[in-house]
Amino acid sequence: MKLTHISDTLLDEASSPALLREALDAFSDLCSAASGIVPDRSFDAWAGDSLLDNGVAINPQAAAHCVTDYQRSVIYIRGAYAAIKAARERFNGPIQILYPGCGPFATLLLPLLEKFHPDELEVHLLDIHQQSLESVSALIQIVGLDGYRITYVQDDACHYQHPTRPHVIIVETMQKSLEQEPQFAVTANLAPQLHERGIFIPQKIEVELCLADLDSETAAFKQGATLDPDMLTKTGKRHPLDTVLSLTPQRAAALLQNAQQDDTTGAITLNPVYVTIPPLAKLENFDAVLFTRVQAFEQYQLLDYESEITLPLRCSELAPLRAGTSYRVSFRLGSYPKFCIDQGEDE
Ligand SMILES: C[S@@+](CC[C@H](N)C(=O)[O-])C[C@H]1O[C@@H](n2cnc3c(N)ncnc32)[C@H](O)[C@@H]1O
Repeated sequence: MKLTHISDTLLDEASSPALLREALDAFSDLCSAASGIVPDRSFDAWAGDSLLDNGVAINPQAAAHCVTDYQRSVIYIRGAYAAIKAARERFNGPIQILYPGCGPFATLLLPLLEKFHPDELEVHLLDIHQQSLESVSALIQIVGLDGYRITYVQDDACHYQHPTRPHVIIVETMQKSLEQEPQFAVTANLAPQLHERGIFIPQKIEVELCLADLDSETAAFKQGATLDPDMLTKTGKRHPLDTVLSLTPQRAAALLQNAQQDDTTGAITLNPVYVTIPPLAKLENFDAVLFTRVQAFEQYQLLDYESEITLPLRCSELAPLRAGTSYRVSFRLGSYPKFCIDQGEDE
């Protein structure tokens, strides 16, 4: 399958899930053949990863594997296309796009380049792994996109300062519940550098702590049921406790400025959220679960269970659930970002 056909299939809202999978597999094969990088979820786990001060940058083989988180790739690619078109209407001259964490295949942007004239774009690809940048550069030559203005920067996106204010920034350096990878720190560093009328993708990441019957929900999802959070809540099958993090480009830097150092552990955490377990009937049937939702751009969203980055995460720290017990939930920054949950009440 040629890149043009792959792009058309991915952007066509009428494409079936099977066609979308086929197109992404073809994209992965094409990139792999051109660059020599073979996608592998667990390639050289840890050894090939870069353990940065703000999170783990996964190795190029594992990053390549992200293509096959199918719904994620489709939603981000469509969102990025809509965002670049919106930016074209907002700004005169070429659209400056910064894509940190591009990985070896620049998956969220490469399929879109052909949709624009080379004069319409200035693309800056950044990754901590030089091998990924070399891979994208080779790919660009092989698929004949070398007429586009593309620069390659090897740097840490959590500290990088871009010389101009980009019109569009695309960042996907995350896993479910924002654990392990540095999405938060990348957003906090780069969002303030965006042009004031620019577009940051994703526009929002929300993590909500709920009580839910995780096994039943997962089984229902696997059988094709639609799991609408509002409906689950209305029917008493889910009980939202609180939104424990709402990360938007506008708020990221302020969240970081208000972060606190924990007296005992020394860890830097965002302002905590306090929750109390409600006195539900059959509390033993529920689990405490973190649900992640991502709004890439406008209507292009990833909801519960729809992708690997929005899979639910069971919080064993709250088990067994006891009505009336209060917990402090805080997002801990540092080399392994994650939510930390311990017993405690608002002071
Ligand atoms: C989850 S992969 C995503 C790859 C690609 N953007 C995609 O969506 O398929 C994350 C990529 O971000 C890179 N990365 C993670 N943290 C980074 C950082 N702080 N600075 C630069 N690159 C980073 C990793 O090396 C990896 O290539």
